[in-house]
Amino acid sequence: RYPNLAPRPPMGWNDWSYYMCDINEKVILDNARALVRSGLARRGYRTVTVDDCWMGKQRGPGGELTPDRTKFPHGMAYLGRKLHELGLKFGIYEDVGTLTCEKYPGSLGHFREDAELFARWKVDYVKADGCNVPVAPGHTKEETYRDLYGQMSRALRATGRPITFSVSAPAYFQYDGDSVWHKVIGWSAALGNLWRGGRDIALEKHAPAAKWSSILYNFRYNAPLAGLQRPGRWNDPDFLLAGDTGLTQQEMQSQMSLWAMMAAPLISSTDLSRLSPAARKVLGNKKVIAVDQDPLGVQGTVVREDDGSTVLAKPLKNGDWAIALFNSGDAPRTLSVTAETAGLPEAGSYQLHDLVSGRRAHSGATIVGREVPPHSTVLYRVTPD
Ligand code: DGJ
Repeated sequence: RYPNLAPRPPMGWNDWSYYMCDINEKVILDNARALVRSGLARRGYRTVTVDDCWMGKQRGPGGELTPDRTKFPHGMAYLGRKLHELGLKFGIYEDVGTLTCEKYPGSLGHFREDAELFARWKVDYVKADGCNVPVAPGHTKEETYRDLYGQMSRALRATGRPITFSVSAPAYFQYDGDSVWHKVIGWSAALGNLWRGGRDIALEKHAPAAKWSSILYNFRYNAPLAGLQRPGRWNDPDFLLAGDTGLTQQEMQSQMSLWAMMAAPLISSTDLSRLSPAARKVLGNKKVIAVDQDPLGVQGTVVREDDGSTVLAKPLKNGDWAIALFNSGDAPRTLSVTAETAGLPEAGSYQLHDLVSGRRAHSGATIVGREVPPHSTVLYRVTPD
């Protein structure tokens, strides 16, 4: 079992959704500095992960992974040092197959040496993708992935460096049927600290118009998985898109609130050097972050659902509950849930704290969000009186 290196859902930034392969040292460090300058690092967004396309097309003469020297002229140890100087953590991407998704060298056959190299570079977080995995003769796809992720997990562990391990395997089984897919989540949870599910959240460059539907897709995919996570082992429905074009303020806020309800990793992927104040506010809302990072570590569950709305409830460590009223439809709606349906302890009344508007109210046994605009989520912290 991989050590519990993520007692709370990991938080940070990753280049992929915004930059894809157009990355280099300057892009990474500019975003890292923006994390610090904006105050988001202080709020917990500390792990900066360099995704695919950081490598050269070939391994070095001794078989070692080498960065693309035009993109990363000072190398990866230097990048890690810079990130650490900023008080941040260093995340890096690899793949358990022969090649990464973008056809750079994969780790298959090199797990030990790659893990040792990452440890020498003082990497704190590894995201292991699952493209280009040749199914081993006489084995199933599931057995092959389990074996390869197992090798990577053991290799990282053997370095003795605490490296948070993000496993992408479940994303490669999402169309293979529920039973195999549950198996994959089972071993992903044993081998790593978080695992990807659902699709890739829409990419800035390729699908500027498809962002909301992609958020909705991953939300619907991830919400039923509540029982499968626990502290140290998190479902990862992919990046936060606040800051990107193509989303309204309400949609950005909805994603943040829903991800917090699901105790999802909070990993921003946008150009932080030109983050709007509105997006900064969404990402940096302390009270919403506290719901995500709550020490009880429970993923909220769906307690009510109809065609255009979902209500989630999540118990919090201090005895409060978080309730989210999500209007996924296209017209404003009043949404409500009874305390009983939400699973709240019985009480004469409940204090409601709207964590986005800051408004406080009192409520009887029915918790109401008035006039929830389309694609909006009302997020309450509820204290039974
Ligand atoms: C697929 C992953 O799901 C993405 O997050 C990203 O890492 C790309 N591969 C990179 O090729």
